[in-house]
Amino acid sequence: MATTQVWLGMLPCALHDSDVHMGVIASAPAKVILFGEHFVVYGEPAIVLAIDKRAYAKAELREDRQLYLRSVNLNLSGYFKNGTFKIEQGNAREARSKFKPLKLAVEKILEIHGENIGLNIEVNSTVPVAAGLGSSAAVATAVTAAVGTLLDVKMSKESVFHISYEAEKIVHGTPSGVDSAISTFGGTLLFQMDTGFKPLDVKTDVPLVIGDTGVERSTRDQVLKVRQIRNKYPRVIEPMMRTAREIVLRAIEALKEGDLETLGDLMNINNALLYGLEVSDESLEWLINAARRAGALGAKLTGAGGGGCMVALAQNDRLKQVLEAIKRAGGRPFIAKKTDEGVKIEGT
Ligand code: PMV
Repeated sequence: MATTQVWLGMLPCALHDSDVHMGVIASAPAKVILFGEHFVVYGEPAIVLAIDKRAYAKAELREDRQLYLRSVNLNLSGYFKNGTFKIEQGNAREARSKFKPLKLAVEKILEIHGENIGLNIEVNSTVPVAAGLGSSAAVATAVTAAVGTLLDVKMSKESVFHISYEAEKIVHGTPSGVDSAISTFGGTLLFQMDTGFKPLDVKTDVPLVIGDTGVERSTRDQVLKVRQIRNKYPRVIEPMMRTAREIVLRAIEALKEGDLETLGDLMNINNALLYGLEVSDESLEWLINAARRAGALGAKLTGAGGGGCMVALAQNDRLKQVLEAIKRAGGRPFIAKKTDEGVKIEGT
């Protein structure tokens, strides 16, 4: 049988022709910010959890130099070749903007690999898009791991995180990096701008229902709104910042002790602060109230607010009722469990 020479890492390796299209599948989790969004922008701590909704990426070698990208869930596909993009399926502008960060991640890996190689990349994600659950970071992280493994580029999780973070900057401008970190490392992280990430050892189950309002919003605009209100009323907002910090500090203890009731109370207080900053809206409050009435221990918006998702904490035997209540209130709910699994290779 004929063989083809392909460079894998630094060593030439003989593959059979039939193997040239072999693929690697990687996955990475979405996230939910449990406490501290917005306040984190001003140096306060936040707690973020990886959840059991994942983005998947499959990378395969091509025989030409093109980069072919396809998103199964967004019905988009197209090629990058010599700096130009050719659409195959869907809206060209949308496809280019969704694929640009992934192209950057691939280029970073090819730089380390040392040779320009053609690739087919297929993405499939179950994470709601632009809803505060870190969908773009999960996709970029999965693509980075799949391509790195396919090309036998030795990468630590830190390198995967850095490449995914570079890709995220294309999507959000100046992201805090929390999404890429949680997609890479999984688990529960304490994040603070000046100290970075610290894994929290959370043994207890944290049963969550997430409700998507279906209302699109811009993280950038929401962050700006908080900046304006903070500039206008600095002495009013400052104590709120301190309260947000105390919420996180108390929540760390409650997470360690498995004290779900306290966590629920703290989520409610955190939401009141976010409401005061005017980053909640009717669509979110409607779902939050429905969840609380159905017996949730606590509920709050998650992420930037102004639409997107809310999150409710409930005892396991209440989860279904909370889910049904959110559905009746017009949201798109799903049960989410925290996961310790960060980015991983699913198979080759
Ligand atoms: O909605 P998301 O996932 O983009 O979360 C934004 C979280 C903020 O704290 C509002 C902004 C940030 O950079 O941390």
